Amino acid sequence: MYKVFVTRQLPNPIIERIQQVADVTMWEEEELPVPQDRLEKELEQADGVLCLLTETIDEKLLQRTERLKIISNMAVGYNNIDVTAASKKGIMVTNTPGVLTETTADLTFALLMATARRIVESSSYLKSGKWQTWSPFQLTGQDVFGSTLGIIGMGRIGEAVARRAAGFGMNIIYYNRNRNLEAENQLGVIYRDLETLLRQSDFVCILTPYSPETKNLIDREQFTWMKKTAVLINTSRGGVVNEDALYDALVRQQIWAAGLDVFEQEPVPLEHPLLSLSQVVALPHIGSASIQTRMRMAELAAENLIDGLQGKRPKYLVNGF
Ligand code: GLV
Repeated sequence: MYKVFVTRQLPNPIIERIQQVADVTMWEEEELPVPQDRLEKELEQADGVLCLLTETIDEKLLQRTERLKIISNMAVGYNNIDVTAASKKGIMVTNTPGVLTETTADLTFALLMATARRIVESSSYLKSGKWQTWSPFQLTGQDVFGSTLGIIGMGRIGEAVARRAAGFGMNIIYYNRNRNLEAENQLGVIYRDLETLLRQSDFVCILTPYSPETKNLIDREQFTWMKKTAVLINTSRGGVVNEDALYDALVRQQIWAAGLDVFEQEPVPLEHPLLSLSQVVALPHIGSASIQTRMRMAELAAENLIDGLQGKRPKYLVNGF
């Protein structure tokens, strides 16, 4: 039997499926991640691991593993894993794309709408007893219909957000490392370089994977290109935006508002200056958080893991060798 470590509690049917081929050890706490030293210890003799984006699988950890064949990440992003170090040791790394596309696009659009129309702020306004009367410019936001949406990262989720935006009558432009001609033809989205996109967009949605090339892609200079009425939405990874620069841009009214589902440090510390701003809508990284999608992600992660253990090529291998 193979030995597998599962880094968080998952539903029984998923665990039972893995148990058909492996002895499973599961991290016992439901809400908190496994400490790094325990993770290192568990993986020394494991053949496979099913992990989350909260686990750091770095070179130091990988050096200590003796039998590890497969790291199955239950997420589409895999910046928590040193893929180069894994590849050097011949360890497969897999992710769970596709199944979370529509759910994450829904959340991205919900955050865009909530930020544009000040939904969270308005609800607190009412509940805290501030609502005295209807008045002409009370809690006024930005129009979504007819505005220009700039999507940074035109992959699966970018395309799904573009389809939603088309229904809202938005003009859609995008920036991507490579042009996505299929999206241009099918969705009518128009390519712009990053500077032009930021200058023209009323809403900017960040949907690009996090990598050394996209770290701080939106930094001080980029905020100076944006409209004063612009709304920035980030549902990818916190590190794509320089948070200090974002805070300054919001306070100096270089941009109008931000909707953030992701942060450089997660959980974001409560004393983080961005959380003190009423024009920031902040969510605890819930992009793919629907019951159905999280089940599908867990199933796919289990499938990838089992394939890797059994020497088959998993469906979503990110380091093809
Ligand atoms: C969530 O952020 C994921 O990468 O799946």
